[in-house]
Amino acid sequence: MTDQNAPTAAAPAAEPEPDGARSDSDSAFASTNGSDLTSLSSSIKAYVYENGRRYHSYREGEYVLPNDEQEQDRLDLSHHIYKMLLGGELYLSPIGKNPQRVLDIGTGTGIWAIDFADLHPGAEVLGNDLSPIQPRWVPPNCRFEVDDFEAEWTYSRNFDFIHGREIEGSVRDYDRLFERCFEHLRPGGYLEMQSMGVVTYSDDGSDERATNFHQVVDLIQEASGKFGKSMKTMGTWKGKMEKAGFTNVKQKVFKVPQSPWHDDPKMKEIGLYNQANLLEALSSYTYALLSRVLQWRRVEIEVLLAGARREIKDLSIHLTTDVYIVYGQKPEEAAKAHSLLFPPSSRSLVLPFLFLYPTIFPSLLTPTHVYTCLTVESGCAFCRLMQQFVKQSLSVSTRPPIHSHFTKQDRRRKFGNDMKRKRDRHNVTNMSSRIIRTAQCKCRCKEEKKTRPTDINNMT
Ligand SMILES: C[S@@+](CC[C@H](N)C(=O)[O-])C[C@H]1O[C@@H](n2cnc3c(N)ncnc32)[C@H](O)[C@@H]1O
Repeated sequence: MTDQNAPTAAAPAAEPEPDGARSDSDSAFASTNGSDLTSLSSSIKAYVYENGRRYHSYREGEYVLPNDEQEQDRLDLSHHIYKMLLGGELYLSPIGKNPQRVLDIGTGTGIWAIDFADLHPGAEVLGNDLSPIQPRWVPPNCRFEVDDFEAEWTYSRNFDFIHGREIEGSVRDYDRLFERCFEHLRPGGYLEMQSMGVVTYSDDGSDERATNFHQVVDLIQEASGKFGKSMKTMGTWKGKMEKAGFTNVKQKVFKVPQSPWHDDPKMKEIGLYNQANLLEALSSYTYALLSRVLQWRRVEIEVLLAGARREIKDLSIHLTTDVYIVYGQKPEEAAKAHSLLFPPSSRSLVLPFLFLYPTIFPSLLTPTHVYTCLTVESGCAFCRLMQQFVKQSLSVSTRPPIHSHFTKQDRRRKFGNDMKRKRDRHNVTNMSSRIIRTAQCKCRCKEEKKTRPTDINNMT
């Protein structure tokens, strides 16, 4: 890597206040002074600059696309393309009219989450991302957190709908991700994944003339594979969702023009927007991947991209790509089996039952089995059921709330010693490292009913 390509240090002091700074009026804060606006940890804002683009700093290096204004504009444009493709809809899952809790993983600028919150004022919408690039003015039922969706999930209540768009290339382990989504959905809830393929083709063979663009795509695929977050996974989602336990899994594949070559006016318009998206995406997708993983120099990348741009602008080349939308439901049966096994009247018996667990089933269901089952392996049906039951039966909260974009340092600065007192008011029971963590929270966060990402809590 040349000096020119080398990651540079923190954002300069003149860096404008990031869009992610939170407003006092945000329901998640309930603050009475302006200090929350400045509470965003400086480490989260200590962006990395490389090849003239800005990259996230939380979990530095984990995500290979930039997070600067230029990229944010592209994400918003891509949101528009998705809406055009879906006839104005935000999702395809039949989630009903009144979803209560919704999670948008890798929310980006938060545009999908904000639209969803506007559309469903009764829903509580949470978006998470490595970058605090969401706007400060959002609907009251919409919140954002800096979090790594590949790290431990500590949400106390299940979601009705989990959505992940354009996160291909951001996921190291889809099996684990889908399992987490399954665990954190209520029975009957839906997971929906949407992504535009990093692939190009044409039905008439004209794409063969797009040699530079093909090379770009191949290099992105090679580098993302080497990096461990492949951009060739969409075709596997359906099978992986089913493996995770989802039912009614549907996969819809849309053919989308990559430039305005199409005769159909709607497709032509989509192609027009997609061309603009693609011309921007070229540098977003290649700079970090090609320079960090394949050791290409910036100048070499630029020469290749110039050729690819010419081909994308050539309307005699009918470049096309695929958009995959895959969604599946957590079976209602889980709920039925759950209530059959554990009618509400039996709930007070759950703790004694847990202690009797190894006695009743000495050979199989020992605590060691349960622990291994739920942490190391994917989990047998019974252990999962128990885990779900315990989570639902008890009010789960492992820690005092860590407000969005707050770090330990921020909270210490803000609350001082008061923090310790608040912590003491949480009667935390940590029965086994991951399986059962409960807390009876008596302070105001009881209303908020949430636990916070462990990793943010640990950041200094
Ligand atoms: C291509 S953008 C898509 C944004 C948004 N979903 C959309 O469709 O507009 C991918 C987003 O995922 C975020 N991301 C990548 N890896 C992540 C992770 N492990 N945890 C949280 N967010 C992540 C990135 O920061 C980026 O904002």
